[in-house]
Amino acid sequence: MKLSQELLNNLIEITSNSAIACYPYIGKNEKILADKAATDVMRDQLNKLDINGKVVIGEGELDEAPMLYIGEILGNGNGPEIDIAVDPVEGTNFVAKNLPGSMSVLAVAEKDCLINAPETYMYKIVTGNHIPRGSLDIDFTVEKNINIYSEISKKKNSDITVCILDRPRHKEIIKELKRLNVNIKFITDGDVSGALLVSDKKFNVDIFMGIGGGPEGVIVAAALDSLNCNFQGRFLFKTAEDKNRAYKMGIKDLSKKYEINEIVKGESIFCATGITSGDLMNGVIKENNKFITETIITHNKSGLKLVKKEVSLT
Ligand code: FBP
Repeated sequence: MKLSQELLNNLIEITSNSAIACYPYIGKNEKILADKAATDVMRDQLNKLDINGKVVIGEGELDEAPMLYIGEILGNGNGPEIDIAVDPVEGTNFVAKNLPGSMSVLAVAEKDCLINAPETYMYKIVTGNHIPRGSLDIDFTVEKNINIYSEISKKKNSDITVCILDRPRHKEIIKELKRLNVNIKFITDGDVSGALLVSDKKFNVDIFMGIGGGPEGVIVAAALDSLNCNFQGRFLFKTAEDKNRAYKMGIKDLSKKYEINEIVKGESIFCATGITSGDLMNGVIKENNKFITETIITHNKSGLKLVKKEVSLT
């Protein structure tokens, strides 16, 4: 195993601590400050690890620092070369408004195993591990995808639920889902969590679809890969600058449809700690002289874990 148990434990520690760093900003309507607090802790702690890390999915470019930027080198240099994808606060609005579902997230993989991508949108379609890979396709119509899902899962349309970001850009998809009598779970933000809802029947979500952040798509692909779920995505580049950046990062075919293992290859880890409580896990709880956090960690070589952690206040 190239990614060690020690690294796994370190990542749990890091996302726990970056989630805790956000705790004072929950409900303070200060999403930039919350993001900065989490980012500073994440950077500081990643820099202490015995790794040769490079941020391949981050928050902007070098000129937009101080956020963890694409291309930033992390770690003390004494260890394996790894690709790192960071989202110190996924759901900044949730933290700012004290709403459910924010989390601090990291994904790592062996060097050159996570796609390098700029901050742009991505069209995504996600299903659980009971659906054979390749069954649904972002190039099919909504109706065709629903028909295929219905046939494979033996569910009537009225028993199928699709999760989608509540955005005007999804007007046509939503109209179509309503016409097909499919249930919709609207989310206002946080499509990493939204996509992960397909991974367990208890969440009652059959399909995640629609346009969300590209970085979030890459990060969640690492978790979905470990869980044998299905993910397909296509980056959407609007401006010439976006297209240029992507090209320089190695994306030569700008309209390429990516299968999950073209986004994340080899050994990978996904690690997310709840900041505010949501469907997937509890948020940070402060109890007497300690913080209690919950972290979901997936590793495609050793499976999924929910880890509870107590951090004492010093
Ligand atoms: P932030 O935490 O960076 O604010 O992102 C939240 C989020 O909802 C993501 O989960 C999602 O992929 C993206 O924003 C959608 O972007 P937009 O709000 O522009 O539709």
